Amino acid sequence: AETTRIAITPGDGIGPEVVGEAVRCLETLRAKHGLAMEWTRFPWPSHAWHEEHGDSMPEDALKQLQAYDAILLGALGDPGPMDDPDRYLLPDSISLAPLLDMRKGFDQWVCERPARLLPGARQYLADERAKDIDMLVIRENSEGEYVSQGGRLRKGTADEVATQMEVFTRKATDRIIRYGFEQARIRAGERVKEGRTRSFRTLDGRTCESQVCLVTKRNALRYWGDMYTEAFEEIGKEFPDVATHHELVDAACMKFVQSPWAFDVVVASNLQGDILTDLAAVLSGGMGVAPSCNLNPTDPTMPSMFEPTHGSAPDIAGQGLADPTAMLFTTARMLEWLGRKDPTLAAAGKELFEAVAADLAENAGSQRGTREIGAAICKRLTA
Ligand code: IPM
Ligand code: MN
Repeated sequence: AETTRIAITPGDGIGPEVVGEAVRCLETLRAKHGLAMEWTRFPWPSHAWHEEHGDSMPEDALKQLQAYDAILLGALGDPGPMDDPDRYLLPDSISLAPLLDMRKGFDQWVCERPARLLPGARQYLADERAKDIDMLVIRENSEGEYVSQGGRLRKGTADEVATQMEVFTRKATDRIIRYGFEQARIRAGERVKEGRTRSFRTLDGRTCESQVCLVTKRNALRYWGDMYTEAFEEIGKEFPDVATHHELVDAACMKFVQSPWAFDVVVASNLQGDILTDLAAVLSGGMGVAPSCNLNPTDPTMPSMFEPTHGSAPDIAGQGLADPTAMLFTTARMLEWLGRKDPTLAAAGKELFEAVAADLAENAGSQRGTREIGAAICKRLTA
């Protein structure tokens, strides 16, 4: 197969440390299977690059990255020294904009955040049934609340008014909802193969193997809420094998905590999905294990971007303490995604997922450092 090229952007804080373990695993898998895969490390986007060049990335950053099949990103953001009173008061440009630039620039219109409570992961909910938590939150990643239009009128005065526009297009709505239904079908198929079927009830009393829950706030945010609901109902007709369900976002938060095992695929807007996925991450073991995939499923010339949901954790950076598990699950997802072009990579991704999951299951609650965890997983891969 043609060589798959990965752009590696370690970023800030614990990013370089956890990315180091990802690269070690990639090297191990490449050597083991003779995979046609290579990667290049970039010193940007990062805080350090910003300090030196006045911007988080070079001007032609997206052009450079577009030559790759995927981007593997560590973490971004550096609020400054712990004893600095101005910590967190840095200008916008330093913060996390590059992430949004990449999502937008490469039209990564899907954000997939799987939340499955695996054995060995920290279980925050006391209920036994938490073991059955296995959902995929699909966040609309191209528009909505993140269009960044608006402004501050009479800025700095007592009469200031800030506006922040939300824009929802039918095209982006249809494609994210259709994607959700397709994923529900795929997940049901995988579960059947693995012999762990689930059942969901439709409104008319039928039983289905999978479900899509649409989240909106249509009782208050009528216009896009109604459009989302109409699109959902229409597209749902093409998927009679998938049960449909609707929640308002506030109730969804409540039910995520009350009965998260009742969800399968969840489709939400950009901001509501952002919020729900932090909650879902905690329900499925916390930030230490949660992967995040920013995908462009429609344009093969655009790289997709893979990052752990966790941040740069500057308080523990540089000490070898960060848990690379989320980064490694993310790397496994990336390989599975790249497997669309080269099936040997999909197999390697599955193998990495199994190794990370096995390591997690056997070391529940252990106090291991970044290198130690990475080394244990590599060892499993070579065994
Ligand atoms: C995420 C993050 C980003 C987002 C921030 C850093 C802009 O919270 O990836 O979930 O809101 O999308
Ligand atoms: Mn977030």
